[in-house]
Amino acid sequence: MRRFALFALLALAGTTPVLAETVASVESPGKILRVDLDVTEGRLSYRISRLGETVIAPSHMGFLLRGAGKLERNLALASSSTRSQDDTWEQPWGESRFVRDHYDELRTRFTETIEPKRSIDVVFRVFDDGVGFRYEFPDQPQLHDVIIDDELTEFDVASPATAWWIPAGEWNRYEYLYNKTPLAEVGQAHTPMTIKTRDGLYIAFHEAALVDYSSMWLRRVEGQRLRAQLAPASEGWKVHRTAPFNTPWRTLQIADTAGGLYESNLILNLNEPNKLGDVSWFKPSKFVGVWWSLHLDQQTWATGPKHGATTATTKRYIDFAAKHGFRGVLVEGWNPGWDGNWFGNGWNFDFTRATPDFDIEQLAAYAKSKGVHLIGHHETGCAVSHYESQLDAAFALDQRLGIDAVKTGYVCDAGQIERQDVPNGPVVREWHDGQWMARHHLKVVQAAAAHHIVIDTHEPIKDTGLRRTYPNWVAREGARGMEYNAWGNPPNPPEHEANLVFTRMLAGPMDFTPGVLSLKGRNGQPIQSTIAKQLALYVVLYSPIQMAADLPENYEKHMDAFQFIEDVPVDWSQTRVLDGEIGDYVTIARKDRNGEGWYLGSVTDENGRVLSVPLSFLDPGRTYVAQIYRDGDGAHWKTAPFAFARETKRVTSADTLTLRLAPGGGEAIRFMPVGR
Ligand code: NOJ
Ligand code: CA
Repeated sequence: MRRFALFALLALAGTTPVLAETVASVESPGKILRVDLDVTEGRLSYRISRLGETVIAPSHMGFLLRGAGKLERNLALASSSTRSQDDTWEQPWGESRFVRDHYDELRTRFTETIEPKRSIDVVFRVFDDGVGFRYEFPDQPQLHDVIIDDELTEFDVASPATAWWIPAGEWNRYEYLYNKTPLAEVGQAHTPMTIKTRDGLYIAFHEAALVDYSSMWLRRVEGQRLRAQLAPASEGWKVHRTAPFNTPWRTLQIADTAGGLYESNLILNLNEPNKLGDVSWFKPSKFVGVWWSLHLDQQTWATGPKHGATTATTKRYIDFAAKHGFRGVLVEGWNPGWDGNWFGNGWNFDFTRATPDFDIEQLAAYAKSKGVHLIGHHETGCAVSHYESQLDAAFALDQRLGIDAVKTGYVCDAGQIERQDVPNGPVVREWHDGQWMARHHLKVVQAAAAHHIVIDTHEPIKDTGLRRTYPNWVAREGARGMEYNAWGNPPNPPEHEANLVFTRMLAGPMDFTPGVLSLKGRNGQPIQSTIAKQLALYVVLYSPIQMAADLPENYEKHMDAFQFIEDVPVDWSQTRVLDGEIGDYVTIARKDRNGEGWYLGSVTDENGRVLSVPLSFLDPGRTYVAQIYRDGDGAHWKTAPFAFARETKRVTSADTLTLRLAPGGGEAIRFMPVGR
């Protein structure tokens, strides 16, 4: 049955009312969220309500298509259908082992009422904790070769809101400090962008399954109305595809609490299932490496007297890894191409040969004899076509040497990715997050998978949940990581990680590289953290590969705290956000996927906090020894960052613990069941 609704489009008294026709609707399984599709004088819009209150006011949909004109007006509903899904699937690794995929779907087709009578499908999946929708371009003679000059999707937020966001379309990709501003003051933002409305509702905007399409930035048009702004391609268009094809899902996670956003699995659920089959060859694990000393400028990527990637230095790291139970040793600067200025200058990189002072064959054998694996490093300097020409040879070498994880890197300014379609042909520049790079990253991930290698991308394209489809894409950077505490000006402020959890981390795992217990960057610049907070980051910032980033000699001085880094797992069967506010603090508990232990991490911003934590997440009827790693008396990130204490307590799920977090501090706890 069709319903008619009159909208308050009467901005000026006396304007003739515009009749919006609601042509289709769908509700989430628990009747929490509802989506309505309206057609107003041939223009399509959607709106979202939650428990009867409008969350997203009528927002337009459509495209600007090259040659063919706007696909936005003169639209009429041609067909619609609904279906429900309730399924649970298992992750090979992740924050939780099982994921419930429970939604109601509305599939609609809209066709132009005038020539050229093109059709477009719009599909909504409505979950209790959010909405995903995408466009599907069916193949049709009048719309086969599709050049998208702009996507016109809008998001008109109904209630006044505060936004946490980083700028999009800027030179430093995703490596910015988070802005907290009224939503009405956002410029152009990357996703995930998270907002909190005046009514206390949390919404995160992002996308899922970014495949062969360009990334969506959010540009504020006016008031609280945002519009998709696709990253451009060197050809001048945004996206070029051949029908049939789908756009990525545009997503809104919607929750009563900040933690509810993090616990939502909407992004993963909207991705295609695993295409790689059995990936048990990937072992979630921790690693050490010649990395922090490079960023401290104590050693260099370049060859010469300070070269970090030497046979002797790497052996020392392998020994340290073997002694303390780390599976991986990352070595950067192992290959030719680093001498001189490599920033944005990658045409000399060779990914199949080591420098003469790095005996890769001997080191791989030495590592193997100790149960350790070298981690490869492919810094491209953004000469991406040059890298692609070596991909298969490089991964074949790695596989032969037992190197089963590779960190990639794309250091240059955004918009300066170098693409050369034919050898010796012209070089054109691409954005790091345009369609061409979306394709490139999947090329790398698929080539690596063929050699049973996992990828950790730095200076990546944003994560949109593709780890579900390609579980060897295990981590990436895509935000300011620990390296900014070495040389960043300013370094990461104490609130940074509490921002990340509710923004960047909604997208997926981050290779943040925590655990710098020496708390000093380059030239002694203080890191704005306590010791206990560095430990808590292993629980708070999820990745199935985690670095212990500090130098071995620094860990030797902090063995008490280092124990937690040795013990903490990186693969989980369950995750709970116990408490948290964006940019203020967060407490997360996770259960070991391969054991019965629970782990808790809590971090705060520049304000100290006393938090009461009920332990009801623990298995009932069991007694646990809680190994507590906390801020010591008088701890403070500015004045007493090293004040640190360890203690143990016996607890059960009926107990409540009080966490006392220092300004800029944190707490890490390992709960080990006794008597079983
Ligand atoms: C930037 C990466 O984030 C960092 O981890 C790496 O050491 C350098 N690029 C060099 O590749
Ligand atoms: Ca980086």
